[in-house]
Amino acid sequence: DKGLAQSWTSKGRQYIGTALTIRDDSVEQGIIKSPTDFNSITPENAMKWESTEPSRNNFTFAGADAIIDFADKYKKEVRCHTLVWHSQLPAWVSEGNFDNKTLISIMENHIKNVAGRYKNKCTHWDVVNEALEEDGTYRNSVFYKTIGEAFIPISFRLAAKYAGSKTKLYYNDYNLEYGSAKALGAQRILKLVQSYGVQIDGVGLQAHLTSESTASSGGGVTPDTDTLTRVLRLYADLGVEVAYTELDVRFTTPVTKEKLKAQADAYARVTQSCINVKSCVGITIWGVSDKYSWIPGVFKTEGAALLWDEQFNKKPAYDSMLKRI
Ligand code: XIL
Repeated sequence: DKGLAQSWTSKGRQYIGTALTIRDDSVEQGIIKSPTDFNSITPENAMKWESTEPSRNNFTFAGADAIIDFADKYKKEVRCHTLVWHSQLPAWVSEGNFDNKTLISIMENHIKNVAGRYKNKCTHWDVVNEALEEDGTYRNSVFYKTIGEAFIPISFRLAAKYAGSKTKLYYNDYNLEYGSAKALGAQRILKLVQSYGVQIDGVGLQAHLTSESTASSGGGVTPDTDTLTRVLRLYADLGVEVAYTELDVRFTTPVTKEKLKAQADAYARVTQSCINVKSCVGITIWGVSDKYSWIPGVFKTEGAALLWDEQFNKKPAYDSMLKRI
């Protein structure tokens, strides 16, 4: 029987991916290495600014290189992640008190060294990550405070200069899936970059979702398929591709049969919405097994958000996703 990626690509779509942290777990790494379920990987942390340039102009690529070597060896596409983000940003940048011109030169040096090193190795780059607040206004990051909204088109111009012509450049954010003010903010960003005449190829919806109404989701649950489809079209209709880039669907643990069913239904809705939109190229799930998911570390009472449980049994969400493909 075909797995997720095998089914997806046989439908003419590009990839089903997972976040990759290279670790000593042959079961987990074996699922990623196999061509069955995943043909793309996103480095979970290894390409972030704190990992690649921990101090000024001191570049450290061991972790990121290992990801690229893994991808070459096991024939995976790489969605590279991420160049300009307020988080996992070392203090020398976030507290640097640089003027506009200096910060732009720091961004150029970072993008030149990181995107340049992996030129044309990345099928995609998340160029700018999480620039928006929930109400659709700009997040008050060091980049926005110092440069204003122009930091976004500037980032894309620099990425286009160094990433290589084979690499698609994305704006990426979470909580776009509800189609609210933040989703419109991302559409505004897309139009802004386009208005500068600068390359932008896609919008990534992180899709850190829930299958039950929780405080951490502001009471929102994974929307219905029509809403999700409509949100994808907000961007696709402007001529770019779209993707789900960090999908997981959490709920308050412990696991029950009913909760697994609700989660499976949420995964099916997300998958179906991507199928509904021609330019939805792929879905990346933010990890393989609940054993290593980032969710319990951040959303204290929640977890069990992925397709394999902690013992590496496939959960109902795996089958419900596969059925939609
Ligand atoms: C998370 C990783 O999964 C964790 O290992 C790390 O401690 C924090 O970052 N949005 C993103 C991802 O764009 O990079 C984040 O990944 C999850 C939220």
